[in-house]
Amino acid sequence: AAAELAGIELTAPEFWGRPLRERDEAFARLRAQPAPVHFRELKIPFIPHGDGFHALVRHADVVEASRRADVFSSEPASNSISDLPGYLARFFGSMINMDDPRHAKIRRIVSRAFTPRMLARLDDDIDTAAREIVDDVLAGRGTGDFVLDVAARLPVRIICDMMGIPASERDRVFRHTNTILGIGDPEYGVGSAISRTSVALGLIQVLDAATDLQLMVRRLGRQRRRRPSDDLITALTTGNIDGEQLTDQELGSFFILLVAAGNETTRNAISHALKLLTLNEDQRALLVSDLDRYLPTAVEEIVRYSTPVIQFRRTLTRDHVLNGHPFLEGQKVLLYYNSANRDEAVFTDPDRFDITRHPNPHVGFGGPGPHFCLGANLARREISVMLRELYTRVPALRSTGAPDRLLSGFINGIKHLEYTV
Ligand code: HEM
Repeated sequence: AAAELAGIELTAPEFWGRPLRERDEAFARLRAQPAPVHFRELKIPFIPHGDGFHALVRHADVVEASRRADVFSSEPASNSISDLPGYLARFFGSMINMDDPRHAKIRRIVSRAFTPRMLARLDDDIDTAAREIVDDVLAGRGTGDFVLDVAARLPVRIICDMMGIPASERDRVFRHTNTILGIGDPEYGVGSAISRTSVALGLIQVLDAATDLQLMVRRLGRQRRRRPSDDLITALTTGNIDGEQLTDQELGSFFILLVAAGNETTRNAISHALKLLTLNEDQRALLVSDLDRYLPTAVEEIVRYSTPVIQFRRTLTRDHVLNGHPFLEGQKVLLYYNSANRDEAVFTDPDRFDITRHPNPHVGFGGPGPHFCLGANLARREISVMLRELYTRVPALRSTGAPDRLLSGFINGIKHLEYTV
């Protein structure tokens, strides 16, 4: 097994900088192992250090760990390998790091924003935003950076509009999201050189960005209590929802969660879509031939194939046997959605990008369980409207050159992608 696993070091930044095909092959080798493989943790200064994690790489294991949230806890205050120190966890912790019943209470309050009725109201907003973005593409030079010109603009605008954040603050929200999720990237964060100084510096940047978002939204919350408006901040802070409301801290953390979970992910799905549809000319032609017919399955396949969120973490609340593999209380597991989404036991020809794939039981939005992506329908709608607008009005659109990828073991990101029309 050692020979088969040589070169697979899931905690090393270099591993995540490798070409996607090599990464996929490495996960295929992990899936072929008889049991989930254990990895050691990097020792990071100022961060509590544990004894590593097991990588869950098979679809069945990821699904079961998501479903059994009573055993696989999201609680210990971190989505990634290491725990956050307690005081930071208390300040920034959002429902994604809580277990029921605390999680269920907050999810119930905020999920009123994601009902079909509320989403229908957002539809006009999404249509208008997508139209204006494509207007700009058509008025432009015919080439540019697809991420900055198109993909990144839509999600940040929709989330800000939904919350009631003024347009003037969009750039700030965008910059802070990059800082929070790009900590290991040389352009957005501190880069791959994990030294004491660089990690400390990176953490300070992240805390600074997150604190600024917290304070911005708390300030707006205070304003809305005095002068209510027709937005989510008002709904969340004035007890309009069955008399329930969030505390200031909960509101701030939820906003950070929304901008991180909703921006980075949807933007990357849209960028990956252009890349995949450029590389797979037959699939692009098929999609354009009948958008109504192929868009719904194409969107699912884009999320499966690109898997914008690579992994989330869980911690065992007690000894437990998962699909025949024994785990001990306190052990950590990482749910590798990218690998589950290529599991040959579930998907025929998993490395083929097939916009007609059906059924497509991918776990790109998380496995079935209490934390399943709250924004999945919103994301589907944004990706679908953006692609429809692009391929209807700019049919010659193609990406050129290789994407400039985010260096991260958490987000499968594209920072820059040149396009031509
Ligand atoms: C949760 C992926 C878009 C809000 C999740 C989880 C995944 C995910 C994998 C599960 C976390 C876990 O099990 O611990 C994605 C992808 C997206 C996307 C791939 C786009 C393609 C969005 C959008 C929003 C959003 C647009 C909101 C505007 C959330 C929230 C949670 C979540 C609030 C936490 C739910 C909870 O803890 O109960 N997302 N997401 N996501 N997502 Fe998304």
